[in-house]
Amino acid sequence: MNNPDGSIAIQFSNVTYRTADGRPLLAHLNLQVLTGETLVLLGRSGSGKTTTLKLINNLLACQEGQVIVEGKSTNDWDPIRLRRHIGYAIQEVGLFPHMNVEKNVALVPQLEGWAAEKIHGRVEELLALVGLPPAEFRRRYPHQLSGGQRQRVGLARALAADPPILLMDEPFGALDPVTRADIQREFKALQQRMHKTVVFVTHDVREAMFLGNRIAVLEKGALQGVYSPTEFLQSKDPVVAEYANVLRSEMEFMQEVRKASR
Ligand SMILES: Nc1ncnc2c1ncn2[C@@H]1O[C@H](COP(=O)(O)OP(=O)(O)OP(=O)(O)O)[C@@H](O)[C@H]1O
Ligand SMILES: [Mg+2]
Repeated sequence: MNNPDGSIAIQFSNVTYRTADGRPLLAHLNLQVLTGETLVLLGRSGSGKTTTLKLINNLLACQEGQVIVEGKSTNDWDPIRLRRHIGYAIQEVGLFPHMNVEKNVALVPQLEGWAAEKIHGRVEELLALVGLPPAEFRRRYPHQLSGGQRQRVGLARALAADPPILLMDEPFGALDPVTRADIQREFKALQQRMHKTVVFVTHDVREAMFLGNRIAVLEKGALQGVYSPTEFLQSKDPVVAEYANVLRSEMEFMQEVRKASR
């Protein structure tokens, strides 16, 4: 992370989000995301991770508190400008079925009025980056891809216009473990070069430890705490300790396997 002055890209100030019938999905959320860091949101299914992401790009609006993006409340941003400023790889991928891979990836650059040549070059570059050789995949439609391939197109699309902020909602969830480990490594290397502000949602503890500069733990719509990977492993908080224990028992199991095979 390259942020010597500790500037803040995204800030949640006492944010509460309720459903139409008044049920709080997020309560009194206070959280800062530093410019250039990868902040992982870790939490069980239904803990409010996707809701948190959608408050950042104003797909949802909170009833209490404020979400501030680059110094300005999301209420004061032009919603279109805000969304083009933020790349969003959504959990369900959400490719347009009637557009081929190239058109899907080119969407935001096209809206931004980039020249055709530049868009073409960018699409080629991104498809290669996410491991989809352009000659083979450029013209395919989403229904002609596997789930993991669609997910990679979704990632390429989120990166296309080079937005300074990226929201990633379990972007590697549908990948097999080998491809997933590959793309995690690639993403980490890429992030070390591009220094984007990334909010990365996962419920995979290992992924959180590997990719996060810091890990924010959500539990039932409340922020349990924010930890560096080292603090996370040492935390006495019972919710966090449970995650760390999952990791420890996996490591112990591996050691047992190694011992047994000697
Ligand atoms: N529009 C809605 N109306 C009512 N409840 C909702 C709505 N959207 C989400 N929820 C509920 O809010 C809670 C948080 O949802 P959210 O999608 O943020 O969870 P999540 O942490 O992303 O879970 P997952 O890991 O399964 O994706 C869940 O219990 C969900 O059922
Ligand atoms: Mg979710």
